[in-house]
Amino acid sequence: MKMLIKKISNIVEDQFEQFGYDREYGTITISNRPDLCQFQCNGALSAAKQYKKAPVQIANEILEELKKIEAFQDVSIAGPGFININIEDRFLTEYINEMYNNKKLGCDEVPNPKTIIIDYGGANVAKPLHVGHLRSAIIGESLKRISKFMGHNVIGDVHLGDWGLQIGMVISELRRRNPDLPYFDESFQGDYSKEAPFTIDELEEIYPTASKLAKTDSVAMEESKKATSELQKGRRGYVELWKHILNVSVADLKKGYGNLNVHFDLWKGESDSQKYVDGMVKYLKDNNYTSESEGLLIVDVAKEADTHIIPPFIVLKSDGASLYSTTDLATIWERVEEYAPDQIIYVVDKRQDLHFEQVFRCAKKTKIAGEALKLEFIGFGTMNGKDGKPFKTREGGVMRLQDLIQIIKDAVKDKLQENKSIDFVEADEIARKVGLSALKYGDLSNQATKDYVFDIERFSSFEGNTGPYILYTVVRIKSILRRITEEGFQYSNKINTPYSNVERSLFLKLSKFNEVVELSFKDKAPNKICDYVYDLASTFNRFYHDNKIIAEENIDKKASWINLISLTMRVLETGLDLLGIETPERM
Ligand code: ARG
Repeated sequence: MKMLIKKISNIVEDQFEQFGYDREYGTITISNRPDLCQFQCNGALSAAKQYKKAPVQIANEILEELKKIEAFQDVSIAGPGFININIEDRFLTEYINEMYNNKKLGCDEVPNPKTIIIDYGGANVAKPLHVGHLRSAIIGESLKRISKFMGHNVIGDVHLGDWGLQIGMVISELRRRNPDLPYFDESFQGDYSKEAPFTIDELEEIYPTASKLAKTDSVAMEESKKATSELQKGRRGYVELWKHILNVSVADLKKGYGNLNVHFDLWKGESDSQKYVDGMVKYLKDNNYTSESEGLLIVDVAKEADTHIIPPFIVLKSDGASLYSTTDLATIWERVEEYAPDQIIYVVDKRQDLHFEQVFRCAKKTKIAGEALKLEFIGFGTMNGKDGKPFKTREGGVMRLQDLIQIIKDAVKDKLQENKSIDFVEADEIARKVGLSALKYGDLSNQATKDYVFDIERFSSFEGNTGPYILYTVVRIKSILRRITEEGFQYSNKINTPYSNVERSLFLKLSKFNEVVELSFKDKAPNKICDYVYDLASTFNRFYHDNKIIAEENIDKKASWINLISLTMRVLETGLDLLGIETPERM
């Protein structure tokens, strides 16, 4: 469906063209004074400069024609030559009915879908999910959903950190504890056990212990580095152990992300790019892209126009070991080969921006990424505590995601009125959904690049611009619809022209949905969907307070309202789904 704003723009643009002006001057915008008019066109002012006429003169010419347009109800000139436009209710209502009958609520899929890989999540194997992983998961999931909804072919990849030093740390710690395991015996020829020699709980304890030790004990650090390098070179026992670490950890991560309603299409990681490293290094050397510096194999990625220093990209360390940079470059190689993407979007902490600047430059310079491949870094800010510092546990440690979710679940639990009358299992599930809405909405309603404060009271409030408020609105509509169904009410499938001003505002808000989705995709900005659903929910609630829907005696009116609120519910639920937020049936 064409956007309403475009439909109206086209009408006005036609008039500008008829009078010999550039069409673009006819573009209309939503009025920033909704109390005065619905839409406005400011083009006469800019056109006046180009055509050396008075703005009012141009506005008047256009106005006379616009008055004849059936879709417009009321057009006038304000100030020096702004054209104010109100549209005819019939025209607006037709649009709303079309939207009501449209499966995708007026959002067309793009005619030329692109293959887009979204690299998000980025959990590290052997380490539990913590608060630092939250934003990538939440923002990435939403961007994935928005892009899919637009009709693109989207692949979400968790890109696990499964090849780094933390694995070497776990291996050497295991060795300290159980030196007799066959994994450490280089002469061992037999089959290794199919069972991992540790549970997830043990693994989660092993890593922090090892990492703490390596920080103070240089011998332990050296052991970890050595184990990492031996693993990367393919030492048999270590590779087997690594597979166990991966299996145990990934099963747990899947559960963790699943609880967050975050789902990946690919569970690949840094290690998957390893098989491309040798070929890639040969290609880089053969084409003279590399040079050696202090034993490192590097690619110079600085540009003359740089205003700050961009250090060279390191392809390999002196001992031939892969680095984070190596795996990221090789992963682009791998993705190009396996998925031929048009675009790769990385949703990663903004403190990694230099790393990605180097990776992107290197990939482009060496043509590993062709000209058409768009590489985009969405760097997000930090979630802070009330003290303005990165969010921590009360003891000052890194908070586990699981614990954070529990905290927010507890915060909403008491506020759930219906909980008292429903069984424990459902109540808990509702608390999970409402809690997550608080967490996700609190995050996504900020611009991704900005830091924000995790304010549990505000996020979990049922009033104001919060996730629970929006959910509560959806649940309110669901409950009305349930009652209507119980009543056996027969309804038509038509929405009548609005009966009041607030109802008209609701129509206008609904009609903007396709525009908002497209914009949030274009700007990679889920916060625009947040703003929209909040605005829509507030408008709906005003409508709800002004009207008694269930008690309405005029059957035709009641039927129309029921369709209107069910459309509102669908739009809100779809918007929330694009944010990765689930709605309960009641709360
Ligand atoms: N595992 C990394 C970290 O914890 C994030 C990975 C981001 N994605 C990437 N392609 N580098 O910092």
